[in-house]
Amino acid sequence: MSDIHQTASSWTWIAGEIVPTAAASIGVLDRGFLYGESVFETLRTVERKALFLSAHLLRLRKSASLLGMTCDFDDGWMEQLIDQLLARIPDGEDAVVRITMTRGNRIGGRLDAEGCRSRWIVTATAMEPEKSRPPLHLVISKFRKTPPDVLDPAIKSGNFLSSILAREDAIGRGADDGILLSPEGILTETSCANLFWVRDGEVFTCSRELVLEGITRGCAIRLLESSGIEVIEGLFPELEIRSAQEAFLTSSVTGIVAVASIEGRDLTSDLESSITETLRARYQQQILTASRGGVR
Ligand SMILES: Cc1ncc(COP(=O)(O)O)c(C=O)c1O
Repeated sequence: MSDIHQTASSWTWIAGEIVPTAAASIGVLDRGFLYGESVFETLRTVERKALFLSAHLLRLRKSASLLGMTCDFDDGWMEQLIDQLLARIPDGEDAVVRITMTRGNRIGGRLDAEGCRSRWIVTATAMEPEKSRPPLHLVISKFRKTPPDVLDPAIKSGNFLSSILAREDAIGRGADDGILLSPEGILTETSCANLFWVRDGEVFTCSRELVLEGITRGCAIRLLESSGIEVIEGLFPELEIRSAQEAFLTSSVTGIVAVASIEGRDLTSDLESSITETLRARYQQQILTASRGGVR
């Protein structure tokens, strides 16, 4: 399989230098590599502007502080660095930017992190300008979401094992992705997006205590509420989604994506005139406004 970083235009800032991503590397003692001890943000750009950058940097700081890591950078510095990377992306292409901070190198074989110095890596990879994405087929994953008393979902950590297991399981069952339930059977989110569903004109989603508080999730809720559509955040059992008329996913990289089916039950009968489609169009407008100097 080809690697997007080898085939697309992709540049990485590491240790003070910008290099082609395929040539960027970290050492085997890095605790992100050894233990998944890292935090990250993934965001996209439109017309060479990083979308909702302040919100992503705020969440990065929060993730880091929940792991006891210090985020000693300045937002203006990060913005400049991203601009330097984006200057290398070919004209007419957008990009996905990933900012990763690892705990740095393990010291003397110790598990505790005393004396470790954080490592920063920022990558920008070209992607085609946003088009409408095909609706996704979902299944209910056999893997459960890690409970908040094991790992706070507010930490966007580099340890993605439960998401990878859920995604692989779904693909093995002929679907695109899996919905993870909490150990108690509550609907949470998919491998890397927040989940919403619509029933009788009302929109439902899992409350923040069990899921990552997605930046696109927040944007979707604001857009829906500003058009008079109520969004109910709560803890809903799996059964609740079985009677939904629509569902959609939100994430920074893919935006608002309609769900085609859940466990084989079709959800696309009225897609053209759906709440999902109206929201998708409004979100597209919102990101264009954001890229032209509105919200950063
Ligand atoms: C588990 C999970 N939920 C939700 C999201 C969506 O968050 P955002 O809209 O901030 O990209 C992500 C994004 O990577 C994620 O990994």
